[in-house]
Amino acid sequence: MRQKIAAGNWKMHKTLAEALSLASDLDAAWQPQHDQVQMVLCVPALYLLPVKKIVRDNGHITLGAQNCAQYAEGAYTGEISPRQLASAEIPYVILGHSERRTLFGETDEVLHAKVKAALAEGLKPIFCCGEPIEVRQANQQDSFVRNQIEAALFALSDSEMQQIVIAYEPIWAIGTGLTASSAQAQEMHAFIRGLLAGRFGSEMADRIPILYGGSVKSSNAREIFSMPDVDGGLVGGASLQAAEFIAIAQCF
Ligand code: PGA
Repeated sequence: MRQKIAAGNWKMHKTLAEALSLASDLDAAWQPQHDQVQMVLCVPALYLLPVKKIVRDNGHITLGAQNCAQYAEGAYTGEISPRQLASAEIPYVILGHSERRTLFGETDEVLHAKVKAALAEGLKPIFCCGEPIEVRQANQQDSFVRNQIEAALFALSDSEMQQIVIAYEPIWAIGTGLTASSAQAQEMHAFIRGLLAGRFGSEMADRIPILYGGSVKSSNAREIFSMPDVDGGLVGGASLQAAEFIAIAQCF
C-alpha cells in the first residue's frame, strides 16, 4: 500500500501564538485510522522548530518547509538551505508550488536544482505541478504537466526518485473554492503515474504518493481520496483549523 499523506500548507498565515495553538490542537486530537497515514505540517519557516517541539512525540505528525534554496550554503541573504533544514531534522519541503512559480519567478531549471539540492541533504520534496485555467480550457493540461515533471524530475536517479512526493494542484482550484472533480483528479494522477512508469518503471511509479491540492475540504476529501491514484492532499485554507484538517485527514 502506498503511503497516504495529509499535508497542510499554512502558507504565510498565523502569528506565532496562533501557530502554536493550532499545532497543539492537532497534536492532541490526531490519531490516524491506520498506520499508513502521515500528517505533514508545512508551516512558515520561523515556526518549524517550535511546532516540531509540540508534535515531537506524535509519530504521526511531521514537519515540512514551504521552500528552500538550491544551494547548500553561502551568501544568499534571506534564504534557507536544504542543509539547514536537514540539520534541524525537518523531513519534507514543498518545492514548485504555483505561488512560488508565478509570484517569485521559479523556473523549471531552478526547481530541478532545488529538487537535487534537497535530495542531496536527505529531504523529501513535495513537488508541485498543475496547470492554469487557460491551459485547462484549451485541454492542454496533460502536456503542460508533463513538461513540468520532465523538467524537474526525469533526470533524477532511481534512488532519488524514491524520495519524491508529487502534488497535482490545478492552479484554477487553489484558494478559489473550485475543486477538480474526483474524475478530473484521477485522470491527471493516472496520467502522471503513467509518465513516471515510462521513465522509472511501473514498480517505482506504483510507490510514489501523488497528492491532490486545490480547495480540498472535509466535505470533498473523502470522494477525492477514494480515487485509486490519489494518495492524499496538499491542503491550504482548510488546514488552518484543527477540526477541519483532522476531518480531512480522517477521509482515507
Ligand atoms: P487551498 O490551497 O487548499 O487553499 O486551495 C492549496 C495549496 O495551495 O496548496
